Amino acid sequence: MTLDDVFDKFLTSNSIFTNRSVLTISFTPSTIPHREAQINDLGRILAPALRGEKPSNVFIYGRTGTGKSLITRMVGDQLEKRSKDSSMPAKVIYLNCKMKAADTEYRLLASLSKEFGVEVPFTGLPTDQIYSIFFKCIESKKQNVILIIDEIDALIQKNGDEILYNMTRINQDLKNSKVSIIGITNDLGFIENLDPRIKSSLSEEELIFPPYNAVQLQDILRTRAEDAFGENSLAEGVIEKCAALAAQEHGDARRALDLLRVAGELAERSNVKEVSIEHVDAAQDKIDLDRTTEFARAQPKQSQAVLWAILKLDKKTNIETGEIVEKYAEVCRDNNLKPLTQRRISDLIAELDLFGVINTKVVSKGRYGRTRVVSVSVGEQALGKLQKMLQQNFL
Ligand SMILES: Nc1ncnc2c1ncn2[C@@H]1O[C@H](COP(=O)(O)OP(=O)(O)OP(=O)(O)O)[C@@H](O)[C@H]1O
Ligand SMILES: [Mg+2]
Repeated sequence: MTLDDVFDKFLTSNSIFTNRSVLTISFTPSTIPHREAQINDLGRILAPALRGEKPSNVFIYGRTGTGKSLITRMVGDQLEKRSKDSSMPAKVIYLNCKMKAADTEYRLLASLSKEFGVEVPFTGLPTDQIYSIFFKCIESKKQNVILIIDEIDALIQKNGDEILYNMTRINQDLKNSKVSIIGITNDLGFIENLDPRIKSSLSEEELIFPPYNAVQLQDILRTRAEDAFGENSLAEGVIEKCAALAAQEHGDARRALDLLRVAGELAERSNVKEVSIEHVDAAQDKIDLDRTTEFARAQPKQSQAVLWAILKLDKKTNIETGEIVEKYAEVCRDNNLKPLTQRRISDLIAELDLFGVINTKVVSKGRYGRTRVVSVSVGEQALGKLQKMLQQNFL
């Protein structure tokens, strides 16, 4: 037995997973249930590239975890393969604007040029020079360039929409090649706020990805669980539970897969051979916990102070705004913070609500009118962790 065999044996013998990576984000599944319509629509839109014609620009939107990135990349890959031997091959480039490499106009163009094998320094050149480098890359041979610009809202938010204007106009100057753009966003308000000229040229075609329902999520989970887990590793109802929880949020396949993966990891850690419903519940808590503390840690000091004031009141429901404001004033005094106006405090409370750390509702107080009450909506475990974290920041 070689050392590698020893390691392999160790890694596989005790594992509830046969292949855990199947449930991670970076994995591309080979079967993609319940997206046939979107796959075929996008295929039809891009197909003209196979005859050397420029496909329409496409705008793709839908909520988070609805398969937009997965499907667009998959269709792009297949198109590129099919067109390889044609007289005008397609070159499909994928960029995610949330990534550092594509978050400014400069870096986006530098990354694009790099895809054509031209190294550009990552700072320093004037914009028109880097444009002309990119332009030359495209024109270097006859090709149909298809740019997938994922999370396009992040790019525009940071840099304005001029860049899109330039990109959509580039075809007017190209002789050999053609450029098409596929923009993807989960920010449904984004497209409404776009300059109408850019909007109309970018959304020559539009594709909407609806949220998955619980039954669809079950199918997605089942196909992926087959490759991820050994036989009889999942107790009855585990898939259904993950699907139901994710469907409650908004039909997010990423959430469903995370739940199943984390449930598997928890089962494995407690050395059992089967993932149970309890593991799914625990997975839900763990994901919420990680999310909540991550969120709280990223908040500005004032927002943390409001949250700390709420937690210091030491009750979970029926907390009145007045109480929070009073406690918050104390927190500010003890910590040398300049207190915000009541109006701003209300805004911060609304933000905390939006993220789900707390819940607010307006209740009627009979003849005393109506008042807003707050309840803490994180589980015991998350609460403890939040308290610990905030304790380090405040007196
Ligand atoms: N129909 C499906 N079949 C199998 N897996 C899927 C399906 N739809 C989505 N997934 C998986 O769910 C996860 C989320 O999908 P994807 O990244 O495509 O979402 P998205 O719509 O781009 O979300 P966001 O707007 O947050 O970027 C990925 O791991 C993906 O592989
Ligand atoms: Mg995506």
